[in-house]
Amino acid sequence: GKVAVLAGGNSAEREVSLRSGAAILQALCDEGVDAFLFDPAEQPLFGLAELDVDRVFIALHGRGGEDGQVQAVLEVMDIPYTGSGILACALTMDKSKTKALWHGLGLPTAAASTVSANDLGSVDCAALLARLGGKVMVKPAHEGSSIGMGMARTADELAAALKEAARFDGDMLVETWLSGPEYTVAVLDGEALPAIKVQTPNAFYDYAAKYQDNSTQYICPAELPEEQEQKVRDLAVAAFNAVGCKSWGRVDMMMNSNGQLQLLELNTVPGMTTKSLVPMAAKQVGMSFSALVLKVLATTLD
Ligand code: DAL
Ligand code: MG
Repeated sequence: GKVAVLAGGNSAEREVSLRSGAAILQALCDEGVDAFLFDPAEQPLFGLAELDVDRVFIALHGRGGEDGQVQAVLEVMDIPYTGSGILACALTMDKSKTKALWHGLGLPTAAASTVSANDLGSVDCAALLARLGGKVMVKPAHEGSSIGMGMARTADELAAALKEAARFDGDMLVETWLSGPEYTVAVLDGEALPAIKVQTPNAFYDYAAKYQDNSTQYICPAELPEEQEQKVRDLAVAAFNAVGCKSWGRVDMMMNSNGQLQLLELNTVPGMTTKSLVPMAAKQVGMSFSALVLKVLATTLD
């Protein structure tokens, strides 16, 4: 049987996914695996049934691919796939609900509020801002790659940021501003890879900083004292397990101004482009991109 690499899809992260998928496919072909690319935006997923597929590598980012929908279809078709199952994918696609669960389990995550697009007209932005410390980050609750995100320090800025985020989502997360630095940790088969420090000269690590310019620095090893590095990794694994993830994923976190780590979000299908972070962390432990891809693929057999 063959391996289908699912990439593309209809989410706002389509372009990133196509790049992840192309890199993964190349690696599989280099390793002699019989693999092909399948874009569910172009043909229905059930078409896989006719293609002699015995495993699927999911490289779809965002809604429709990273949120449990594709995972559910593959469960029905009884085809093993990479990454987490339906519940963990669906949950982590919602940043607000993920944070609520972490918070409930005693894991650190910054204070936040969720605003529904239906309530945009009636939100008291000044009060919300004051309650969250006077400076906030606004995020569409279900997007990735920093799409639709904006910073706000005044009530007017908050109203504008909510309106912008509402173009992408029905729910907006308004989170207390975190001064950074940002760290991200790949979890592979239950274990953390070395932390990466993300340093951007942009106001925050936005879409352009992620994919379009070369100004962002990714520092791995993350220049943390050993004890702190261990803390970052332990928090990532705890956050991963708390939401029931398996196979692989990437946990993003940021330090607040008191030097305390705060969980931001968990990506169940992290980027695998040439600029992506999981491959960088793998390289740090001597694991090539191809070896990483094979290792993730192997988790479909667990
Ligand atoms: N959502 C992007 C692909 C990432 O987290 O890497
Ligand atoms: Mg993300």
